[in-house]
Amino acid sequence: MDKDKQIWEDIWDKTEKTLNYRDVFYLMDEIKLSYLLPLLPSGSDINILEIGCGSARLSCFLASNGYNTTCLDYSENAIKVARKNYELTNNKGQFIGNAKKLPFNDNTFDIVLSTGLLEHFKDPEIIINEMTRVLKPNGIFYSDIVPKKFSIFRAHINFIRNLVKLIKNNVKDEFYEKKLNSNDIQNMLISAGLKDVNIFGAGVFLPQIPYGKQVPSLKRLEYKLLSKIKPLITFWDDTIIGEWLGFYYFAYAKK
Ligand SMILES: C[S@@+](CC[C@H](N)C(=O)[O-])C[C@H]1O[C@@H](n2cnc3c(N)ncnc32)[C@H](O)[C@@H]1O
Repeated sequence: MDKDKQIWEDIWDKTEKTLNYRDVFYLMDEIKLSYLLPLLPSGSDINILEIGCGSARLSCFLASNGYNTTCLDYSENAIKVARKNYELTNNKGQFIGNAKKLPFNDNTFDIVLSTGLLEHFKDPEIIINEMTRVLKPNGIFYSDIVPKKFSIFRAHINFIRNLVKLIKNNVKDEFYEKKLNSNDIQNMLISAGLKDVNIFGAGVFLPQIPYGKQVPSLKRLEYKLLSKIKPLITFWDDTIIGEWLGFYYFAYAKK
């Protein structure tokens, strides 16, 4: 098995990211959905493909909104969690495969999306080209990307990680994250042949509460608190502050 795949298998083996679990990442999914839904056509025959779905929470929300969803991840453990989310919400989905060579014909899907995926490849262009290939003409490409960059959300965690790395010099990052800014993302989408490209920095969250994995009640408290100040967080989206201090980028385009 390739080394990266084993890393994701181990992460999903230990991760219980079901929709029952309200944390700051659930809030992020709610925000993503509020940007994504207005871009989507309505109708019962709209087919959506999510690449690198992990627990497939976003696709599950979309399935609850009446869309036909196909979720793809190469980690069997991720797909187990994804299926659990679909069962919990009484939704139907299909689950399969590897993002580098998508097992679909050209021009198959109305919408192709990924969330927190593209930054994990040294050559994200390969994945973007594949996503574009299987998208129908005029179909919608959507991706949110969490590159290696400064963000308020992770500043203190990165500081501690770097300090530990300095002290114990053989500590490796959990997984690969590419450095990208909005111009890099824009160039990749245009090179893939996408049009009406729109990219913006977003996600100026408060610093993430550490020890959330160990103390779930802390995570729930963080979710409640941040939900209350959600408009204050999203206020900075698509501004220079979002670009500099935000946790992620939103990118959407048409084929
Ligand atoms: C950071 S996680 C994001 C998961 C999910 N989209 C989310 O936001 O919760 C990245 C996911 O991409 C998957 N992945 C990485 N490389 C892949 C590949 N070549 N093909 C399919 N899935 C891949 C991993 O297994 C992992 O579940």
